[in-house]
Amino acid sequence: MREYKIAVIPGDGIGNEVMDEGIKVLNLFAELKGDIKFTYEYFPWGCEYYLKTGKMMDDNGLDILKGFDSILLGAVGYPTVPDHISLHGLLIKIRQGFNQCVNLRPIKLLPGAPCPLKDKAPEDIDFVVIRENVEGEYSGVGGIRFADKPEEIAIQTSVFTRKNTEKVMKYAYDLAEKRNKKKKLTSTTKSNALNYSMVFWDKVFGEIGKQYPEVETESIHVDAISMFFIQKPQNYDVVVASNLFGDIITDLGAALQGGLGFAASGNLNIEKEFPSMFEPVHGSAPDIAGKGLANPIAMIWTAKMMLDDLLEDPKAEEIINAITDVLVEGKSLTPDLGGKATTQQVGDAICHKLKARLV
Ligand code: NAI
Ligand code: MG
Repeated sequence: MREYKIAVIPGDGIGNEVMDEGIKVLNLFAELKGDIKFTYEYFPWGCEYYLKTGKMMDDNGLDILKGFDSILLGAVGYPTVPDHISLHGLLIKIRQGFNQCVNLRPIKLLPGAPCPLKDKAPEDIDFVVIRENVEGEYSGVGGIRFADKPEEIAIQTSVFTRKNTEKVMKYAYDLAEKRNKKKKLTSTTKSNALNYSMVFWDKVFGEIGKQYPEVETESIHVDAISMFFIQKPQNYDVVVASNLFGDIITDLGAALQGGLGFAASGNLNIEKEFPSMFEPVHGSAPDIAGKGLANPIAMIWTAKMMLDDLLEDPKAEEIINAITDVLVEGKSLTPDLGGKATTQQVGDAICHKLKARLV
């Protein structure tokens, strides 16, 4: 029996509700597989914790989390806590503190999921975005001078190091090489306007590419790729992007795959020196929190990505197939998908299908 220690940070709002369903699916998977076991430790960190303690997470939070095999996060955010506090006090602290340099975002339209594009089917929308996750535009380098005076100045600097850029590019090329179909890597750039950082980005993209002669490459400006994602999503296989650009184009990707209810992500420490962290892309959705209306599919998909990272077991794919079964059947869907089922009922329905597939 192999045991995995998982740190669980449900966070705020619907984070708590969807987390229960993710864990339910993980436990069922472990039970059906028989030779693995998950143990969980829950941490109450997030905005509600901040309102009580003045901190998003404990000061020694990273020391505590270090001892786990992986981290599952629901969502953080609360209307009375400024978003830059909640983001920098927890998520970015963990991403940067654990050097989770790759943010992995599958953009895949499942059969039965609502696609906003006419004439596009699941076979047209199936790619992965690799977003640089610890530096770039979100390095947090900058400052404000002459605050609240007429001459006030704000400066926010992007930081691109060779070491990290090369590492992220290599990860993206490796994935393009081993992923099923096209062996194609698209780099998202803006080197016409960002004449230092993105020129450097392009240079490293080209240099690393020499080690991967099998992989077809292209470089597209971020504004153009936003258009092409909609016009011809079938052209993409693996896409690499900086932190800011990746953040933006992956929300566009989420829309292509049916909305935030389907968008899953992993923040990967690729050296495996620290735990990686898996989280759905959506936030705490205060407008629907506490009512059992949240779609748990993104969280369940996220849990599946954690399984991939820990086990590399092809059976984990049955979780995605079980989600598809529920979507195609159309009986147990949350209101965002036009159904009447609760968060819990959707989780149960996915478990039911998973059991049927794995027993
Ligand atoms: P949001 O993702 O929480 O919600 C946007 C819209 O999508 C809302 O109408 C919401 O009801 C809906 N929605 C989101 N997830 C859903 C789900 N699973 N099922 C059904 N509907 C869903 O983004 P918003 O409203 O901009 O932010 C709310 C709070 O969440 C803010 O405090 C923000 O800072 C935080 N946030 C946190 C993130 C994180 O923890 N990674 C990511 C994005 C936002
Ligand atoms: Mg985002």
